[in-house]
Amino acid sequence: MAGERYAQVHAQSIEERSSFWAEQARRIHWERPFEQVLDYSRPPFAHWFKGGLTNLAYNAIDRHLATRADQDALVYVSTETGQTHRYTYAQLYREVNRLAGMLTGLGVGQGDRVLIYMPMVPEAIFAMLATVRLGAVHSVVFGGFAASSLAARIDDARPRVILTADAGMRMGKVIPLKPLLDEALTLSDAPEAKVIVLDRGLAPDQPYKPGRDHDYARLRAEHMNAEVPCTWVESGHPSYILYTSGTTGRPKGVQRDTGGYAVALASSMEYIYCARPGDAWFCTSDIGWVVGHSYIVYAPLINGSTTILYEGLPTRPDPGIWWKLVQDYRVTGMFSSPTAVRVLKKQDPSWLTRYDLSSLRYLFLAGEPLDQPTSDWIASGIGVPVIDNYWQTETGWPILTAQPGIEDTPRKLGSPSFATYGYQLEIRDEASGQALGADQKGVLCIVPPMPPGCMSTIWGDDKRFVSTYFSTFEGDPVYTTFDWATRDEEGYYFILGRTDDVINVAGHRLGTREIEEAVQTHPNIAECAVVGVADALKGQVPVAFAVVKDIEAIADAARRGAHEAEVQKAVDRHIGAIGRPARVHFVTGLPKTRSGKLLRRSIQALAEGRDPGDLTTIEDPSALEQIRQALG
Ligand code: PRX
Repeated sequence: MAGERYAQVHAQSIEERSSFWAEQARRIHWERPFEQVLDYSRPPFAHWFKGGLTNLAYNAIDRHLATRADQDALVYVSTETGQTHRYTYAQLYREVNRLAGMLTGLGVGQGDRVLIYMPMVPEAIFAMLATVRLGAVHSVVFGGFAASSLAARIDDARPRVILTADAGMRMGKVIPLKPLLDEALTLSDAPEAKVIVLDRGLAPDQPYKPGRDHDYARLRAEHMNAEVPCTWVESGHPSYILYTSGTTGRPKGVQRDTGGYAVALASSMEYIYCARPGDAWFCTSDIGWVVGHSYIVYAPLINGSTTILYEGLPTRPDPGIWWKLVQDYRVTGMFSSPTAVRVLKKQDPSWLTRYDLSSLRYLFLAGEPLDQPTSDWIASGIGVPVIDNYWQTETGWPILTAQPGIEDTPRKLGSPSFATYGYQLEIRDEASGQALGADQKGVLCIVPPMPPGCMSTIWGDDKRFVSTYFSTFEGDPVYTTFDWATRDEEGYYFILGRTDDVINVAGHRLGTREIEEAVQTHPNIAECAVVGVADALKGQVPVAFAVVKDIEAIADAARRGAHEAEVQKAVDRHIGAIGRPARVHFVTGLPKTRSGKLLRRSIQALAEGRDPGDLTTIEDPSALEQIRQALG
């Protein structure tokens, strides 16, 4: 049952919104106080802490210098390169100022975009912090994306400067990055950006384009003593753009503000994550995803914690590596994903008990459904509570979670518990828009205004923001999460999967439409359907059904055993290996309705061995039969 103290705080956050958030806003530094807690004069656009001047980097670094200059701010451990570096808050301050000097030297000013396409290295974090220090706007692109996905993001964000590295590393294998950026820049039609390349010495002899490409170390040497004052920005000023997938093939640039984000994250570190200033905190995500933005970089630093940046796999050099880090750095809170835990679950369980985990108090998991066996296995193995968080790139911090920093309410397996304070939630009937009661399945919606920290708009496209998220129910603009949910009699929520064509592969969000477009870049594919199919390890995997143009050519490739791999390669080149279909089935037609709409849910049901559902609108029943046969 939702506890009394939790219920009281949640009610207060909604009913006395202004006083609640004004109180929370005291957690951060305001160079000039805000005039209004929330300006909601232009719904659904919420302008939090209007008139207040602040800066994210100041809150993450400068503010702590008086009390924690010599405390570790960032610990970097790479089991790929064997490197470990510690940066105190004073050292982090120096590195961020140097990089801010470098960016200023390349012409970056307030409002300009800086794109970061880097592996999990400290310089990527310096770059994020240096960008917001200048009042500029970063866009981190996950290092696993290939050239054309990167080009699409460059075209949309139009950065003045792009940071990259010679290469990343995975499983000991060097993965060059700069050549992908070079290719992306030839595909892009944005004005040419300056490029800063961090040479890690992993992929030597890469050509530099004179006048465009700059060496990180050389520029840094020129700015060793740089002191770059923070640019104070109005609370609503954008801090970053982070692209995420939706129903269309075109990713959306989720735009985040400055003040609301800082306040939401600061409060979450106490109320949800129970992390005290000075504590060591370890989030295993990647800086290219929202979890990395919020809980590797900004939240722990704003909180005065020590954040651990880990480059490597959970199983290398052995499956005890995470727990060794917990022991060595006395980690108190950890944040990871169900898939990562399922990877560990395949290993010898004694790895969980070889290290001293007495410092650890909680493990938080987010990004995809947490199944009971995984949750039980890890909770009993490491002996701390496991807390399931549900949220989205759009919201920046949890929508549903237990909030042990407010009250330690009992947890139910399979449920991310209750609405986070600040969020007013409803489960609505998809067709009628009616709010539903206990145990009724519907679409999870947030009644606006959205709390601080949530996206302010889609970068450069206010109209798309409203039409995508607030137009599901005509005349009744509520924010749609595009997730199915139920709530039980005791108020616990359960998430039951997406209502749209987004799939979740190992906690990574992908649009099936994007993958379909990538499959269709193969010259012999005319059309294709991609669906997410349940997978024991990754949650879901993409499976493609492709209509070939030239049966003979594909038959020839099939004889060589190469047809599937060819299509997979096309996706690797276009999106990156994260989008690669686990299987490609070749067919001559796809099941569609008479109006031409792809029957994706039926295809998915068949692929998962379920009943394909209502087929009265199907145009050509033999197409479905082909899918059945292809699946064997
Ligand atoms: O479908 C939900 C699923 O992941 C989506 C959001 O993905 P992304 O934008 O990458 O943000 C991840 C931030 C943690 C959601 O719409 N999802 C996320 N967390 C959970 C989840 N599904 C079930 N349980 C969760 N805890």
